[in-house]
Amino acid sequence: METSKTDLSIFTVGNPNNKPVVFVHGFPYDHTMWDKQIDELKSNYFCVTYDIRGLGESPIGGGQYTMESFVDDLETIINELKLDKSVLCGLSMGGYISLRAVERNESNYSGLILCDTRSASDTDEGKIKRAENVRKINTLGVKHFVSEFVPHCFSVKSITDSNEEYTKVLNKSLNSNAIGIKGCLLAMSGRTDTTSYLSKIKIPTLLLCGEDDRLTPPDTMELMVEQIPNSHFEIVPNAGHMSPIENAPFVNNRIKKFLGRI
Ligand code: MLT
Repeated sequence: METSKTDLSIFTVGNPNNKPVVFVHGFPYDHTMWDKQIDELKSNYFCVTYDIRGLGESPIGGGQYTMESFVDDLETIINELKLDKSVLCGLSMGGYISLRAVERNESNYSGLILCDTRSASDTDEGKIKRAENVRKINTLGVKHFVSEFVPHCFSVKSITDSNEEYTKVLNKSLNSNAIGIKGCLLAMSGRTDTTSYLSKIKIPTLLLCGEDDRLTPPDTMELMVEQIPNSHFEIVPNAGHMSPIENAPFVNNRIKKFLGRI
């Protein structure tokens, strides 16, 4: 993988002449959550991923982010790499970014893959929870928050059956920067609701959701697929909220089939 010269950490794999697929990771993770998908797709697609500002190897900056600034960053990457009609693939917070990016400028993209995400903005209850989490990070520290949050993202089965992999992801997240994590929480809390755009999406859309996803359960995504005209939904067996990691063979197979059709 090559690192870009911009301030964000960008990673590209594959032939730039192939169709670009841009992977946007979830919270509180980094680009490596897509390793298994990129490994599978790199010979036929130009795979691009990056660390969202405040997370992974990307700079923290002032720590004040919005969903709009996250989309600005994504558009900067697309422009910098001169990506034409890329397919966007986002998980959870990466899905919020992808959906808003498509709403802002759909003509940039030729397809959309939404994993374990939702179009609705935070409810008041959700916003209060985000505020509680910011308070918790201030009082108990980021490691405390991460060690409580991450186990909810995986199915109980994945935690026991693939404990080594789960522990690796958890340990990486435990090293997150508190300012970056709080900035992301506030950006998610303040994001707009993209539900009214779902019926206007013209590009082909694939939706995937782990059968045991406790954060964005399958019925949340079923409501989305009913509204997106050219869409297809699959429930990922043996997976929670982190379906691309927890059941990579299934997710890869469905992504490959989808990409082959567009
Ligand atoms: C994520 O996986 O990106 C987060 O769980 C999203 C969220 O907290 O809303």
